[in-house]
Amino acid sequence: MAFRPRLLRTLLTAGIAASLAGLAGTVAAAEAPVARPWMNASLSPDQRADLLVKAMTQDEKFRLLRSEYGADFEGQHNKPAGSLGTAGFIPAMPRLGLPAIHETDAGQGVARPLLFGDGDTALPAGLAVAASFDPQVAHAGGAMIGREAHRMGFAVLLAGGVNLARDPRNGRNFEYAGEDPLLAGRIVGAAIAGIQSEHEVSTVKHYAMNDLETARTTLSANIDETAAHESDLLAFEIAIADGHPGSVMCSYNRINSVYACENDWLLNQVLKRDWKYPGFVMSDWGAVHSAAKSALAGLDQESAGERFDKEVYFDQPLREAVAKGEVPPSRIDDMVHRILRSFFAVGAFEHPAKVAPIDYAADAKVSQRAAEEGIVLLRNQDHALPLVGAVGQVAVIGSHADVGVTTGGGSSGVKPRGGSPVTGVAPTAWPGPKVYQRSSPMQAIARRNGGKVAYASGEDIAAAAKLAAQSKVAIVFAEQWTAESFDVPTMDLPGNQDALIAAVARANPHTIVVLETNGAVKMPWLDQVQGVLEAWYPGANGGEAIARVLFGEVDASGRLPVTWPKDESQLPRPTIPGAGLAAIGIPPQGQPQQDIDYDIEGADVGYRWFEKRHLEPLFAFGHGLSYTTFAYGTPKLENHDGTISVSVRVTNTGKRAGVAVPQLYVAPPQGDTTHRLAGWQRVSLKPGESRDVRIAASPVRLAHYDAARHGWVRDAGRYRFQLGTDATSMLKADLSMGLPAATCTIEACTPVAH
Ligand code: BGC
Repeated sequence: MAFRPRLLRTLLTAGIAASLAGLAGTVAAAEAPVARPWMNASLSPDQRADLLVKAMTQDEKFRLLRSEYGADFEGQHNKPAGSLGTAGFIPAMPRLGLPAIHETDAGQGVARPLLFGDGDTALPAGLAVAASFDPQVAHAGGAMIGREAHRMGFAVLLAGGVNLARDPRNGRNFEYAGEDPLLAGRIVGAAIAGIQSEHEVSTVKHYAMNDLETARTTLSANIDETAAHESDLLAFEIAIADGHPGSVMCSYNRINSVYACENDWLLNQVLKRDWKYPGFVMSDWGAVHSAAKSALAGLDQESAGERFDKEVYFDQPLREAVAKGEVPPSRIDDMVHRILRSFFAVGAFEHPAKVAPIDYAADAKVSQRAAEEGIVLLRNQDHALPLVGAVGQVAVIGSHADVGVTTGGGSSGVKPRGGSPVTGVAPTAWPGPKVYQRSSPMQAIARRNGGKVAYASGEDIAAAAKLAAQSKVAIVFAEQWTAESFDVPTMDLPGNQDALIAAVARANPHTIVVLETNGAVKMPWLDQVQGVLEAWYPGANGGEAIARVLFGEVDASGRLPVTWPKDESQLPRPTIPGAGLAAIGIPPQGQPQQDIDYDIEGADVGYRWFEKRHLEPLFAFGHGLSYTTFAYGTPKLENHDGTISVSVRVTNTGKRAGVAVPQLYVAPPQGDTTHRLAGWQRVSLKPGESRDVRIAASPVRLAHYDAARHGWVRDAGRYRFQLGTDATSMLKADLSMGLPAATCTIEACTPVAH
């Protein structure tokens, strides 16, 4: 059958993703009809992939094994014809009716490069979504992104960041979901399921142990196998079990010396053999170092190798490796099969991405809800918040809060709708530009306060303090911009912000601080201010969300998905040599380490590290104040056919509607007996209302990883459960239960027969 290049070019240069149905129809009209048995939707994704693989030529198969960089790059790389100009592109294969595959970053919204269009809807930071402790909000956010992407013509979303927050200075924490593998896995799994409910393939990334950015493309993350399974890998295992992502993105770094994307243990053994993962592994951009070795270790697709790798390993070099017999042809078929089955599994063939109008106003509301649920009230002296009644003049100070809210940088950055209200802020080039979402906290406050607001930029500390002194309330917005590709060397708020807050607090006893940060920062001024809200990077309607929480239109209901250390001395690694970014005035000091010893804390990430070392954090994991108060009845521990749960009556004893987030922690009888989160509930209650809630314990949290069996094992013995309002504040109740030995999966434990 003749291939029609001109017809194809016309279709591709139309600048939209050719829809499968449309393309197939056009080609079929112009050429002899091709039997396409794989279009039979009653067959399983695997059966359909098998049929399609059988119909493919060797060239067609190889065309699926690599994407191209989809954008122009500084004169060195031209956007391929037909590409939408984003991170990844694979041309259409009209003979088979396969449309072009367009991939875009989508960690917190569709992150088309910043030059495109009018911008897309930004969700709040992943940490904010995690702070909601609400998988439904994560799912709704994922579905929103999936819908937008589908209506722009994208088929693959580079989303699902689930690396654990081992260190508050990691520049990418805001893209992830905190320090606890159960919380992170559940939240990110729900977000992935949301994306894929819109017929988009989502990744989960960056697999694995890419927990620091400094020297990320060369460093070796060294960690014991069991500790890895009980920490970062568990987060991936849960996110994959819950979300079924079509793809796993292997990371830049090495793990125990071997690069992630050619790591047989990580890809073949853990992911594909032990977890039975049926989808495909795609590389991060510039993470491939070999052809045969990578393919044999389990990498299925190389991303943008012509731009980021030394060579395009998965083209000529891999073809040669097959010709030489180093890689069996069956492995090539397996790679292609895995890629195709992921598209069948999400219904991409029946519901191809197609350009269509987007309801940005509705989508911004989805983002706003996530921000409102994720904002954490850390401190509230004398019930300074919420601002109610005649508030009087409010001074809004700092962080461009007159026009917008802060974002993080790097590939996940979403172009603000309407453009950034502040431009030219360093860094203006990668991993910037630093942009602000166009949602003004000041205006949102003014709308609730009869317009009685005034703004000071904070650059002139004396002027800001003067304004604060003349106002009833002072609200200082403090920001910390971080991004992919670097870590910050300290937990300090950058610039003069600590001095600014201290000066404002001296001038006005009613000072509230709103943090827009990548996570925990030092707060030398904490005792001098009345209130502190952590708003993370709050997304498209962030200003509105912050004001709604400040004024008590919604409860402050977020809870910390990370432990908040007092300072760096409490961290497993007090320094990160080489961290910093000269372009933002924090030049790196010292040589980056090429070996990171993660065995210092091992699986004791975050609150478990603090428990083991008897350290007292500034704020515990799970902490977050509400505007109301709650009482808890006597909790009851129950075992229903092997499902362990705690039931408790929760009562709102205050005068405002509010949200309680009781958390269930468990300590095993032997071995490592530190507590770990086993479950939680987010409970909305009106004043005076009571509800009986049941919190099921995640089976895998009662187990430990057994390296010899490649799986989870629960020891026989007495398990101690505790109900807490954070990882260090527990209700007094004796909740323990004897359990038999069992083997476990993420979903269930099966007692071992004697
Ligand atoms: C990032 C990935 C991203 C990719 C494509 C890499 O630098 O680590 O998260 O998906 O670029 O933009």
